[in-house]
Amino acid sequence: MPTPSSTDPLLILSSALQTAFEAVAGRAGIDPVIRSSEHADAQANGALALAKELGQSPRQVADAVLAQCAGLTDICSSVEVAGPGFLNLVFNNDFLAGLLKQVSDDPRLGIGKVTKRKVVIDYSAPNVAKEMHVGHLRTTVIGDSLVRMLTFVGHDVIRENHIGDWGTPFGMLIEHLLDLGETKAAEHLSLGDLDGFYKQARAKFDGDEAFQVRARSRVVLLQGGDDETRRLWKLLVNLSTQHFNAVYELLGVLLTDDDLMGESAYNDLLPQVITRLDKLGLLQQSDGADVVFPPGYTNREGDPLPLIVQKGQGGFNYATSDLACVIDRIERLNADLLLYVVGAPQAQHLSMVFDVAHMAGWLAEPNEAVHVAFGNVLGSDRKMMKSRSGDPLKFIDLVEEAVTRADESIATKNPNLPEAERKVIAQMVGIGAVKYADLSTDRVRDYVFDWERMLSFDGNTGPYLQYAHARICSIFRRAGIERESVRNITPNLVEPQERELAIKLLAFNAAVIDTIDKYSPHRLCTYIYELATTFTAFYEHCPVLKAEDENIRQSRLALCDLTARVLNQGLALLGIETPEQM
Ligand code: ARG
Repeated sequence: MPTPSSTDPLLILSSALQTAFEAVAGRAGIDPVIRSSEHADAQANGALALAKELGQSPRQVADAVLAQCAGLTDICSSVEVAGPGFLNLVFNNDFLAGLLKQVSDDPRLGIGKVTKRKVVIDYSAPNVAKEMHVGHLRTTVIGDSLVRMLTFVGHDVIRENHIGDWGTPFGMLIEHLLDLGETKAAEHLSLGDLDGFYKQARAKFDGDEAFQVRARSRVVLLQGGDDETRRLWKLLVNLSTQHFNAVYELLGVLLTDDDLMGESAYNDLLPQVITRLDKLGLLQQSDGADVVFPPGYTNREGDPLPLIVQKGQGGFNYATSDLACVIDRIERLNADLLLYVVGAPQAQHLSMVFDVAHMAGWLAEPNEAVHVAFGNVLGSDRKMMKSRSGDPLKFIDLVEEAVTRADESIATKNPNLPEAERKVIAQMVGIGAVKYADLSTDRVRDYVFDWERMLSFDGNTGPYLQYAHARICSIFRRAGIERESVRNITPNLVEPQERELAIKLLAFNAAVIDTIDKYSPHRLCTYIYELATTFTAFYEHCPVLKAEDENIRQSRLALCDLTARVLNQGLALLGIETPEQM
């Protein structure tokens, strides 16, 4: 639901037309469909549907609508009925310029606030005692950008990092910790070698029966709440979250310890999930397990597929904890929108969990749960991306490589930049490149991770957009003009490239709303990229510092400044920083 923003020309126009349509139709309900086209700024349709109802020709209806449309001359410089009954409308330059000034005066740059919802967003969610690897990139980066956007438009956003900190592997992990001794284990883990630790524990578990027995009884102690076992478990969890935090900080992701809400947090709720399902009469027995059969799911044989909520020996599982999670988010946090930024392979699991929660009445309108699914990151061989050792590429190594590569390319591009400054910029560019490459791909698709492409200064890449921003900053720097000094200017739109740029700048709100509507950051990326290319066309055709007179120069500087602000804000909503020079 787009917010009527007072600076979006298409929204202003469509609401004026809507009123006129309603007046002609004598009732509400026919929506003018507005499209921007290359030839006219807006093209309204809808006369056809109305004509049918009124028994008139579409062109007659279009004329009648125009006659009813007060104030259209303030908005449009040209209005005509075309073809079978289209209205072709061209925005008036002064109208656009006035809106630009309003956007420039607005610290939110025209982005409206929406009706507030309480949103819980579940993202990142790595597993304890395992290294964060490339598989966590997308959930972390997409989740972070959605958090930023949802917060910016006024929602009450609760971040939840649903880390895997519970379950049977902790038996073997704790026993391995005891074998090593706490101090040695802590040293080992704080080096960041979580995977090594996990693998050693696993190897012992697989090869040593006595160890297996110890590990199993340790799980029982853990679940029974034994103090010493809980202390050791907490030690493992803390060592892992320290590592996660280091990654988040390096990436500039908003998650902190306050957002941790791992599987263990739902432990006390698990028995309740079963009793509540049972009371509702939803629980059934299948192969000795307690299950629920949400309609519409079948296995390979075509038999109904159950969601297992309690295994034979009384053990709970991932589904039980996700059901508890829904209860907690709705009943304790009073959330009305639950977002799960989780990979596409978990689609069936989440869909079954949501369906069971609906059947149980835990999840009911207007509350909703959405799986914000995403595809894989692939290596150049189009297989899951791996490191040289064959393990999934560690997140931290990936980020470090990005920064090193960015540093090298900035050094080539701008050799005069002092090293200390270059290092700071390289951090922003390297990390921005990785994030942008990820966010700019439609999240449901897989994409091939390609260093050269993502770090290129050309094309739809992070560095290109950051560079577009830095280039504008340098126009002002070179001329010794303060950016703020041009903010009281209402631009004068004369050249077609100036108009194009104005229309793009005014579409920022619509792009953000559309992105949030579909939980698809690539839509905002596309907008920012188009803004940058529209700016380039403007800059090539319209001299700024060398403009023919001072008024034109000031007007163009105002367009430059506003473009830089929208680039900066747009990238910030994606979690990407914008250096002032590169
Ligand atoms: N830790 C899980 C994994 O690595 C992801 C958890 C996603 N969130 C959830 N509520 N299931 O697969």
